[in-house]
Amino acid sequence: MSSPPPSSLPPLAFGGDYNPEQWPAAVQREDRELMRVAGVDLATLAVFSWAKIQPGPDVWDFGWLDEQMDELHAAGIRVDLATATASPPPWLARLHPEMLPVTRDGVTLWPGGRQAFCPSSPVYREHALRLCRAMAERYRDHPALALWHVSNELGCHNARCYCDVSAAAFREWLRARYGDVDGLNEAWGTAFWSQRYGDFEEVLPPRAAPAFPNPTQQLDFLRFSSDTLLDHFVAERDILHEVSPGVPVTTNFMVMRQTFEMDYLRWGRELDVVSNDHYLIAADPHAHRELAFSADLTRGTAGGRPWLLMEHSTSAVNWQPRNRAKEPGEMIRSSLAHVAHGADAVLFFQWRASRAGAEKFHSGLLPHAGTDSRQWREVVELSQVLDAVEEVVGSGTDNQAAILFDYEAWWGCELDSHPTVDVRYRDRAEDFHRALSALGVGVDVVHPSADLSSYRLVVVPTLYLVSDEAAAAVTAAAEAGATVVVTYFSGIVDENDHVRLGGYPGAFRELLGVRTTEFLPLAEGHTVRVSGLGQGEVLADVWAEDLELAGAEAVAHHLDGPAAGRPALTRRSVGDGVAWYVATRLAAEGTDRLVARLVEEAGLDRLPGAAPDVEVARRVGADGSWLFVVNHGSQDAPVPVTGTELVSGRDVAGDLVVPAGRVAVVREGVS
Ligand code: GLA
Repeated sequence: MSSPPPSSLPPLAFGGDYNPEQWPAAVQREDRELMRVAGVDLATLAVFSWAKIQPGPDVWDFGWLDEQMDELHAAGIRVDLATATASPPPWLARLHPEMLPVTRDGVTLWPGGRQAFCPSSPVYREHALRLCRAMAERYRDHPALALWHVSNELGCHNARCYCDVSAAAFREWLRARYGDVDGLNEAWGTAFWSQRYGDFEEVLPPRAAPAFPNPTQQLDFLRFSSDTLLDHFVAERDILHEVSPGVPVTTNFMVMRQTFEMDYLRWGRELDVVSNDHYLIAADPHAHRELAFSADLTRGTAGGRPWLLMEHSTSAVNWQPRNRAKEPGEMIRSSLAHVAHGADAVLFFQWRASRAGAEKFHSGLLPHAGTDSRQWREVVELSQVLDAVEEVVGSGTDNQAAILFDYEAWWGCELDSHPTVDVRYRDRAEDFHRALSALGVGVDVVHPSADLSSYRLVVVPTLYLVSDEAAAAVTAAAEAGATVVVTYFSGIVDENDHVRLGGYPGAFRELLGVRTTEFLPLAEGHTVRVSGLGQGEVLADVWAEDLELAGAEAVAHHLDGPAAGRPALTRRSVGDGVAWYVATRLAAEGTDRLVARLVEEAGLDRLPGAAPDVEVARRVGADGSWLFVVNHGSQDAPVPVTGTELVSGRDVAGDLVVPAGRVAVVREGVS
C-alpha cells in the first residue's frame, strides 16, 4: 500500500527534537546556522515547555516560542509543534497533588522527573486541554507549522496508575464493558478464590496483593490503561482538528521490544500520521534485527502506510545500564533501515546534546564536542544520503508474508502464574522475522483482524489469546491456499483469558490436526534434540508438549527430554493450503530450516542479495520500486540488481556490490 505523506511535511524530513529554551540566544543563532549546514528541515518544538509557556495558572508566556517559530521559519525549517502537555509544571502538582500517579504498591510518583500525572486525572485533563487549545489558537496559522505533536510518548513512565481516581475510572470502564456486575464476575471467573463481587464499587485495580491478582482483572486493567491514554490523545486531537483544521496530528509511539503497554495497533487508527521512536538495545549484538521487526510493526500500526521516525539516536542513549556508542556507519544504517521499512522521515532525539539534566549524556545531532567530531560528520553525510533517496517518499510495500501480532495476546501471554516464565511474546515473532528476512522475504506485521487474503504465508507466533473470529480468519487463509504456521502457546484462551477446553491449542486444534493433552515446559537452560528437519538434529529449549496427531502428519520428533518420541513439528493439508504447528522453541538453525521449507512450499518471491547480516527490503510506489540494501556485516555484499543506485548516482546492471557496513538504494529497472 502506498499513499502520499501529509503535504505540509518536507519530503523525507530530517531533523529532530529542538529544545532552544535550554540555551542562550547566541547558541540558538548558531543552532539555526548549523541546522542549515546539516540540512535539517523539520524541528520538533515545545515538547517539554509547559512550565515555560504557562509559568502559573493564569500566566502565559508565548513570546519566546513566537520568536522560535518565526526564526525557524525564516531559516526554512518546518515545525512539528508539540502541544506541550507531556510534563505538567511543578505548580500544577502543588495545587493538585491528587493528580499524581500511584504505583501498584501504593507509592506516589512525585514531580521532579517528567510525566508525573495520573492518566485518568480530570485535573490533568482539564489543564492539558486548556494548554492544547491555547497552542492551537496561537499557532494554527503560523507558516512554519507542519504537524501537531500531541504530548510525547504517552505512557512512557505512567501508563498504569493505581490511585483512587484511576480505580473509579476503571470501574466506569468495566461498567461500560460488562453492563452489570454479573457480567464482570463471569468474565473474570470470580468463582475462583472467593473473588465474587456484589457491586462495582468493590472492584479495584490489580494493586499489590498477597497472591497472584485475578488474570482477567490484570488483562482488563491493561486494556483500560491503554484506552485511557488513547482517550487523552483523542481529546487533544479533536481540539487540534477543530481549531487548526488541515494540519495533521500525530503522537510518537514507542514500538520496540521494551514497550508493550499501549495497544498501538488500535491507536494507529486514530492518528493522521503514525510516528515512532525507536532506540537500539545496546546489549543485543543483533539489535538491527529488532529494529527491522519494530519498523515493520510500526508500518502495521499505520495500516501499511508510510510513517515518520520521530526519534532515534545518533549514538549512545543515557537510560540503559551500559550505553554503547554507535559504531562508525551504524547511525546511517539504522536510519536507512527505518526508511526501507516505510519511514518517510528520519528524526532524532535531539538536535543539540544538553548541558544539564538527566539526558546530558544522551547523544544528539550536535554533540558536546561540537562540529569537529565523527558524529557531526556522519550527520551531514546522512542528510546527503536522505536527499539522494528522497523520491521513495509515499511508497509502500507489497509483501507476500505476514506475521500476526496482537498487543492483547502479548499482555495475556506474559501474565504471571503460567506454565513457564520463559515464553516471551515477541520471541517467536522476531525469530521468524529474522529467518524470513535472511532469505529476502519481506514481511508485514499485522493485527489478526487484518485482511489476510493477499498473503501466501501467514505466521501465527505465540498468539496465546485469540478471538473466535481471528482463529476463523487464520483457518480461512489456509483453506484459500496460504501456508499457515502456528507456534506453541497459541490459541490457548479466549478474550477473557479463559482456557479453550478439549485439548490445546484450543482455537487452532482442528486447523492444525493436533491435540495436546499437557504442556511439558523445560527446565531453565535445558536443551533438547529434535530430528526430522533436514540432515541431523537441531536443538530446542523452553517448551515441549504431550502432542497427539489428529489429522496432521509428524514432520519432526523430540529425541529426548520430557516429550521424547513425541512430534515437535506437524503439517496438515487444509483446503488449498497447509497448516504447520511448531510445538517447541527451535533454536535459530531449526527455525532457519523450517522457514526455508515454508518459503519454498508457499512459492514466495525472494529479494536479491539478502543474507543473515545483509538486510534487503523493497518499497513499491505507483511509479516504480526501490531496493534497499543495508549491509550490517563485515563482508562486502554482492546484490544482483539492475537500476540506478541513488546514493552514488551510478547505474548498476545486475552487479551491485554493497561494501561492508554501507547502504544502497536502487531504483529498479533499466534507466
Ligand atoms: C524518549 C523521549 C525523549 C527522550 C528520549 C531519550 O524517546 O521521547 O524525550 O527522553 O527518549 O532516548
